[in-house]
Amino acid sequence: MDRLRALSGIKWQRWGADVIPAWVADMDFPTAPVIIDALRPMVEAGDFGYNMAAFDDSIPKAWVAWSERRFGWRPDVERTKVFTSTLQPISAALAVATEPGDGVLLFTPVYAPFYGIVKKSGCRLVEYRLNETEWRIDASALRSAIDEGTRAILLCNPHNPSGRAYSAEELRIVAEVAEERDLLVISDEIWQDFVYPGATHIPFASLGPDVAARCVTVTAASKSFSLGGLSCAVGFLGAEKVAEGIGALPPHMLGGVNALGAHATLAAWTGGEEWLLGTVETLRANRDHLLERISAELPEVIVGRPEATYLAWLDFRATSIADDPAKHLLERGLVGLSAGPEFGLAGKGFARLNFATHPEILDEILDRIVRTVREA
Ligand SMILES: Cc1ncc(COP(=O)(O)O)c(C=O)c1O
Repeated sequence: MDRLRALSGIKWQRWGADVIPAWVADMDFPTAPVIIDALRPMVEAGDFGYNMAAFDDSIPKAWVAWSERRFGWRPDVERTKVFTSTLQPISAALAVATEPGDGVLLFTPVYAPFYGIVKKSGCRLVEYRLNETEWRIDASALRSAIDEGTRAILLCNPHNPSGRAYSAEELRIVAEVAEERDLLVISDEIWQDFVYPGATHIPFASLGPDVAARCVTVTAASKSFSLGGLSCAVGFLGAEKVAEGIGALPPHMLGGVNALGAHATLAAWTGGEEWLLGTVETLRANRDHLLERISAELPEVIVGRPEATYLAWLDFRATSIADDPAKHLLERGLVGLSAGPEFGLAGKGFARLNFATHPEILDEILDRIVRTVREA
């Protein structure tokens, strides 16, 4: 706890020392030793000059190898570019491939910044409200959600906040509908590495060359290895129009990655797998523990079993803190979850809990939630 409270990141700095944060998607574990070992000599030598790893194709190549080994998909390295965050290529793709007023479909509730990206790109939100018990993508519901002016689908695979890892069947539905309606599909796969036994991460673009050719895939090592502050991501620009449009932007308009982010990402994707697998196992145990405690101690709080991510989407609608669960939990329970409505209108009465923490801290978080609901 002392180490965590001393960190400069927003997760632990947002509230006072009496609050335990379980909101923003950062893990409480220090990153992989292989990454610290890569960065330490750079920091100690003050090695911060212009850096080859930020300019050459070593990061795309490392990602291609990681993706092929872990997910069986070998993205075209020529079509893979380095970005400063996963949100950057999403925004850039919409900027170059849509016209004002074009519809962009989101599967909601969903990661809050997606709404701002759609709106600030001059696009119109087209909503597919996921069924909150199954969270499955259904072909006829998708066809009826899409209107004449829809031009793109922004997919979150695996899905934040539900923790669904979409099946091949569901992804094929998205691909088929995209083909029928000539839609661009942007697939945010930043959660790719956190998938628990029984589920699989299937990269959307791996469904076939025609699917890849209308797709943009964005991902990073940042979520998997707690590197959010180091700003490094990759985008596979399968769709020709997006590749050309982004390629034609004025040089430097999108900025570039920094040397520490580049080296951390390379170390993660070339030597971090063993650490990652151990971390995913810890998170699986946390997930199971959380589900057991909620069902035993707070059966009125409904929570699905996340197949992926380290997020639990808690439904407080049958409790007496239903009007604003995150506010009550923060003010009375001193525990900081993400408020459901940040993820869209469908999030009212819900709160999102980040369970990527040490088991003792998770228990304290759960104690505080149970107490708050019981005493309300
Ligand atoms: C779905 C999704 N996309 C993107 C991000 C942020 O990625 P980045 O820091 O690379 O912009 C997050 C962070 O939680 C996320 O959940």
